[in-house]
Amino acid sequence: MANLTVIGGSASPTLAKNLANRLDANYIKSNVQIFPDGENKVTIGGKPTGKTIVVQSTHPPVDSNFIQALSLISKARKTSSQVIAVIPYLCYMRQDKEFLPGEIVTSNVVAKMLKAVGASKIVVMDMHSQLTIKYFDMPIRNISAVPKLASFFKKMKLKNPLVVAPDLFWAPQAKQFAKILDTESTALNKQRNRKTGELEIKKSQKRDLEGRDVILVDDMISTGGSIVKATEYLKEQNCGNIYAACTHALLVGNAEKKIKNAGVLKIISTNTIPGKTNAVDISDILAEYLNQKH
Ligand code: R5P
Repeated sequence: MANLTVIGGSASPTLAKNLANRLDANYIKSNVQIFPDGENKVTIGGKPTGKTIVVQSTHPPVDSNFIQALSLISKARKTSSQVIAVIPYLCYMRQDKEFLPGEIVTSNVVAKMLKAVGASKIVVMDMHSQLTIKYFDMPIRNISAVPKLASFFKKMKLKNPLVVAPDLFWAPQAKQFAKILDTESTALNKQRNRKTGELEIKKSQKRDLEGRDVILVDDMISTGGSIVKATEYLKEQNCGNIYAACTHALLVGNAEKKIKNAGVLKIISTNTIPGKTNAVDISDILAEYLNQKH
C-alpha cells in the first residue's frame, strides 16, 4: 500500500511483520536497550512517513512495553501524517473505575498518555471493559477475536459442547461463541473480593453436565485463578473434557501448570501475546480492518 509503514515494537515483532506483509507496507524494526536501572532506550531503524502503524502489545513487562509503545508513537508522530497504534493487548484496562475509595482509574491515565504522545487512533482486541472506551478522546476500535476462536473449536468437532463464560461479563461473548458452534452457552457467577482478591463462584441451578465437554471462554487468562475456580466448579458436576479459550494468554508465573493441574485439557489462545498456547492468528482480521479507509 502506498506510503504505509508498520513499526514493530519489541513485544510484537512477528505480528507486526505479518501485518506489514498482509498490508504490503514498509516494515521498520525497533530495538530496545534496557539500562541497569530499568529504563528503556528505544531506537527505530528507519524514518516513517505518511500513514504509520505502530504494533506493540503491552503484556508483561507491562510498564516497559507500554513506555516503548508511547516512545514509538511519539517518534512516528514527528514524521508521519497519522499514527495508528495497534495494541492488541492493552494493559491497565481492568482498573476501569474506582472500585474502592482512593483507587486511581489507570485506564483513564493510559488513554490520556496515548493521546498525549500523538496516537491518531487506537486499535485493540477484546478490550477488557467497554466502560474504558469513554476515556479515549480519539477514535478507538475494539476488534473481537471470538469468531476466530470459535471457528477454531468448530473444526475440533466436539459433540454438543457447552460454552461457559467464567463470569457474567463475558456471557454475551460466550453466547456468540456458542452460536458459531451451534450449541448452548452459560455464564458462571464469579465474585472477586476487592480487598483480598479471593475468587468465589456462586452456586446456581445445576444443569446436567455428565460427560459433556465444556469450553471456558474469557478475554484473558492472567494468574489462571478464574479458570481454575471455574474448572473445579464444573468438575464437581462430572463434565467431560474442559478446554480454555482466550484472546489474551498472559499466563503469569505458573498459571499454565495450575490450569492443567486443575483438569483443563488444552488452552487455546490468539497471538495478541506471543506464547505456546497461540493457536489462532489474528493478523488477518487486524489487516482486514486496517485495509479499510481511515
Ligand atoms: C476478569 O474479569 C477477566 O475477564 C478475567 O477473567 C481475569 O482477569 C482473569 O484473571 P485471572 O486469570 O488472574 O483469574
